[in-house]
Formats: sequence, structure tokens, C-alpha cells
Amino acid sequence: MSSSLLIAIDGPAAAGKGTLAKRLAVHYDLHYLDTGLLYRAVGRKAQAESLDLDDPDQMTTIARALDTSDLDEASLRGREAGELASRVAAHPGVRAALNAFQRDFARQAGGALLDGRDIGTVICPDADVKIFVTASAEVRARRRTDELNAKGRTVIYEKILEEVRQRDDRDSNRAVAPLKPADDAHLLDTSELDIESVFREACRLIDAREA
Ligand code: CDP
Ligand code: CDP
Repeated sequence: MSSSLLIAIDGPAAAGKGTLAKRLAVHYDLHYLDTGLLYRAVGRKAQAESLDLDDPDQMTTIARALDTSDLDEASLRGREAGELASRVAAHPGVRAALNAFQRDFARQAGGALLDGRDIGTVICPDADVKIFVTASAEVRARRRTDELNAKGRTVIYEKILEEVRQRDDRDSNRAVAPLKPADDAHLLDTSELDIESVFREACRLIDAREA
């Protein structure tokens, strides 16, 4: 049964992790944690306190003092917070400070689903199912552009594509917990798939594991 099911979803920016993760969490009745929010919150707090995001000690202090109430901010969702997050996420001390909370979340009764960059590799190497969601940088930039335009914000595709590539580069090349699929992760390339098809394929992978 799915009572203690643990699912890890990883992948690059705008691959569709969050969209898939939220649907799966409802479908399988699992506690859900968007781990990107933790790094976004550290980046935002550091910015609010005018600290140097490249200073590992200062950023680690912020991460250690993080409170779950810090995760409710609407300002965490946007592109700027994503950029700040990827800068502070490169510091090993910041990652170490956030690991215990994520691992405790993953172990709670009732099962859990976490999405991020290092869930299958570092946070939950023992997850029951690991899915690495990806899509070409062009497709991801197009989706992000359409999403923002639909919200009434005029953004230029080429600029978003550049941001996506920069974030891929930073997340993939950092020394600690770089973005990469776990050896036992299922790769799910969504470049040619709509949201419904991605959801169905993920359910198939999860149900096959359970059976
Ligand atoms: O969480 P992550 O940054 O990986 O991506 P997301 O916020 O879930 O998805 C980025 C955008 O792509 C959203 O607007 C989704 O609706 C869209 N999307 C899509 O168009 N097709 C998919 N197969 C998956 C997501
Ligand atoms: O939704 P999107 O993929 O654009 O961003 P996110 O998942 O909120 O993550 C923002 C940034 O936090 C990423 O670019 C990573 O640098 C960092 N992050 C991380 O290092 N490890 C995680 N488990 C989650 C996010």
C-alpha cells in the first residue's frame, strides 16, 4: 500500500516538476514539499538584510535560522527569487543546514513527495520511486514565457531562455549536490508531452513500482 510511499522528483528549472508533483501528491495522498522554496527563502532573506550572497558563512547563518513561516511569502515564487536561490544553493553550508528539515519531512507518517534538484541523489537516496523530469531548454523557456505572459507580464522569450541556461549551468556545475539524475531515476523527457501525458506516465512508473 501507499501509506509510506516516498517519491523524489528532480529536474531543471521549468521542467514541470511542481505541476507534476502537486498532482501526484493529491492523487497518492502524500505530504508535499517544494524544496526550492527553502533556497528561495534563504536568498530573499539575505537580500532583505542586504547581505553578500556569495559569503558562505553569512548565507549558512541565514539558512540555519530559517523558519517554516518564512516559506509563506508570495515573493518567493518569481524569477528573481529563483535566481537568488540558485546562488545561495551553491554553498555547502546552506545545503547542510536545510538537509535535516527535508529528511524529517520525507520520513513522516503517511508518506511524502519532495521535488527539487538533489532529492533522489542526496536527500532521499532510498526513495521508492525517483523521477527526473526534463525537457529541452527551449521548451522550458517557452513554457515559462507563456506562463508569465498569461499572468499579464510581458517577457521576452530570448531573455527567459538565457536565464534558464544560466540556471542550468550553475545548478549542474556546483561542487555540492549538482543537478543530475540518480542512477536509479526514471528519466521523463516532457519536451513533447502535455501535462496530462506527463501525469499518466508518472503514475504508470509509480504503480509499476508499487506492484
Ligand atoms: O516546477 P518547475 O519549475 O519544474 O516547472 P512548473 O512550474 O511546474 O512548470 C512550468 C510551466 O510549464 C507551467 O506553466 C506548466 O503549466 C507548464 N508545463 C507544460 O506546459 N507542459 C508540461 N508537460 C509541464 C508543465
Ligand atoms: O521552479 P524552479 O525549478 O524554477 O526553481 P526551484 O525548484 O524553486 O529552485 C530554485 C533554485 O533552488 C534552483 O535553481 C536550485 O539552485 C536551488 N535548489 C537546489 O539547489 N536544490 C533543491 N533541492 C531545490 C532547489
